[in-house]
Amino acid sequence: MIPSYYEFYNPVKVLAGNKAVDNIPYELSLLSARRPLIVTDQGVVGAGLLQIVINGFAGSDAEVGAVFEDTPPDSSNEVVSDVARLYRENRCDSIVAVGGGSVLDTAKAVNILVTEGGDDLLDYLGADVLKAPLKPLIVVPTTAGTGSEVTSVAVIANPKRQIKMPFTSQYLLPNMAVLDPRMTLTMPPKITAATGVDALTHAVEAYSCKQRNPLSDAYAVAAINLVRENLVKAVKNGKDEKARFGMANASLLAGAAFSNAMVGVVHSMAHATGGVCHVPHGVANAIFLPHGMEYNMSKVADLYAELLLPLAGPEVYLSTPEKNRAVRAVEAVREINRALNAECGMPITLKQAGVAKSKLEAIAATAINDAAHAFNPRELEYADALAIARAAYE
Ligand SMILES: NC(=O)c1ccc[n+]([C@@H]2O[C@H](COP(=O)([O-])OP(=O)(O)OC[C@H]3O[C@@H](n4cnc5c(N)ncnc54)[C@H](O)[C@@H]3O)[C@@H](O)[C@H]2O)c1
Ligand SMILES: [Fe+2]
Repeated sequence: MIPSYYEFYNPVKVLAGNKAVDNIPYELSLLSARRPLIVTDQGVVGAGLLQIVINGFAGSDAEVGAVFEDTPPDSSNEVVSDVARLYRENRCDSIVAVGGGSVLDTAKAVNILVTEGGDDLLDYLGADVLKAPLKPLIVVPTTAGTGSEVTSVAVIANPKRQIKMPFTSQYLLPNMAVLDPRMTLTMPPKITAATGVDALTHAVEAYSCKQRNPLSDAYAVAAINLVRENLVKAVKNGKDEKARFGMANASLLAGAAFSNAMVGVVHSMAHATGGVCHVPHGVANAIFLPHGMEYNMSKVADLYAELLLPLAGPEVYLSTPEKNRAVRAVEAVREINRALNAECGMPITLKQAGVAKSKLEAIAATAINDAAHAFNPRELEYADALAIARAAYE
């Protein structure tokens, strides 16, 4: 059903294909910038990916103003202040982010401070605080999952409060996302698996949440098809460029879907588990996705039934009676999880992820205060969140 009113916004220019990163200096010039700060992390540098981007600047008018290569996972507001200082000290005029969601989100948050002039990101908490465009930002995802390359969100940790804070504004959307198959070939299997399920979760939640619309649906279904066709392949053989590129596209499509439609209860549980127990975002999503779908089943079984087609493919879809399709869709997600667990040991229970049973109450209490479930098809109370956490424990 088409909602009586909806909005869909995705102004991010996409450059996709082999050697796409070599076009960054030219694209910067189109944005009137020539001295970017590059934001990245040690894993990306160690994999030789920063060098690929820097090589692309040879012979161009642009020069790299500074490089910040110490972005931690679950980057915090303190890190963001440090990086903003580096930008100012080196008189940069733009940002190029090369990394996974942690790096991309850090760069987006840094862009708030260097444009608005402040020192403390906490001053910009909440939705739509920003009123004007930020500095040029080009992002090069090196994981395939968060979709941060096309979302209006930056998720930054607040270590003092043990929570992850979502900053939301259309101005956080990068000017450009560069998908270059060379940038994900080195991603280790476990990270490939976890980030890939993050993309899957974005698509499933976007398709079934209250703010879904025909455009986000189209992006979500396309993303799920690509995940089904490519995720396990990319984990099995990291050098499979076709599978890698498929997943890079899946991540972007799912990102555009959920940036417009929103996510749901699975993300609230995952954010809470990340904040309380430091379980990586994708792993937490993988653990909670089947349980979140079961929780929502009473409201959106018809939508899950439709998702069986992209999740499991036409043969399974056609051979499953209509009334069983929704439950079979949850099973299809479990099959993907089990295949990834068998292939690379990706945890599929909280216990396997090292979460102590004593933390389940704290996870549930944090989850109900997380904004991600605002558009979930079914309301989430503390007792529900605790029941989901217990079901996901082992
Ligand atoms: N903004 C959004 O819309 C959005 C959406 C979902 C998640 N997130 C955030 O994204 C973060 C997680 O991002 P992530 O899952 O991409 O992981 P990540 O950025 O934390 O990276 C995980 C690890 O993989 C390494 N790595 C990344 N790419 C590599 C490559 N190609 N080769 C070798 N090593 C590589 C990194 O060095 C790092 O050690 C979380 O903070 C989460 O909250 C943001
Ligand atoms: Fe996510």
